[in-house]
Amino acid sequence: MAGRSKTSPEASGPASAASAAGGPLHVAIVMDGNGRWAQKRGLPRTLGHRAGVEALRRTVAAAPDLGVRWLTVYGFSTENWSRPAAEVRELMALPKRYFDSDLKRLEREGVRVRAVGRREGLAPDLVALLDEAEQRTAHNDRFFLQIAFNYGGQADIADAARRLAEAAAAGRLDPATITESVFAGSLSTAGLPLPDLIIRPSGEQRLSNFLLWEAAYAELVFQDVLWPDYDAASLADAITAFRSRDRRFGGAVSDDVLVAG
Ligand code: FPP
Repeated sequence: MAGRSKTSPEASGPASAASAAGGPLHVAIVMDGNGRWAQKRGLPRTLGHRAGVEALRRTVAAAPDLGVRWLTVYGFSTENWSRPAAEVRELMALPKRYFDSDLKRLEREGVRVRAVGRREGLAPDLVALLDEAEQRTAHNDRFFLQIAFNYGGQADIADAARRLAEAAAAGRLDPATITESVFAGSLSTAGLPLPDLIIRPSGEQRLSNFLLWEAAYAELVFQDVLWPDYDAASLADAITAFRSRDRRFGGAVSDDVLVAG
């Protein structure tokens, strides 16, 4: 089997997760606006990123109470390497900053952590830290925090295609059996349902290479708040917007489209 191992036994497969109760069950967030938040205060961008870690902490605390079961956050993109070296160093230090203060609590409170994205290119101590966070929380199933780090949607799709091609070349996979669900099973996000809602704060309206495959039928909500100011009320607002949407997944919902004649 060329696919990656399933790491979320409670996940219902690649289908979208929103329940009859309205959802969203799987929320994904582009944590954007740290730099502008700092700039507005005359602070270095690094302090904006540190404030962004606080916002992540608040959001993880608030999400389960709002009915969210899976939360995916964009921590570092494959394109973020092009930032100045000092900023890259600060961004690389954020997982340690977060887990040093929060890993014990996440472990205790039933949160399962998974880091997706390329481990290659990351410092060995950072890889060890991400592995440790995954291992120490592997038994948890109350809430799932997926951190996209050194992640790019295009890179993830290319990596999945390469894995499938290698399996086919080695005779372990019949190319004729590659379907959407087989392909999804080779992505680093395999095992989680597709996101129902993708949020981007800070006023920007684009995906920036986040969850390109997985976003197929996600609702997109853009908010003006800068990420370091994000809190439970911001998340509740995004969820309210999601619930007002009419999700059709390419189908039609009402009879009025069935015009006679
Ligand atoms: C984008 O804002 C934000 C990032 C590149 C980093 C986001 C990461 C965190 C908030 C914390 C990550 C924590 C963990 C555990 C990985 P920007 O710098 O592009 O902001 P700007 O658009 O205002 O300049």
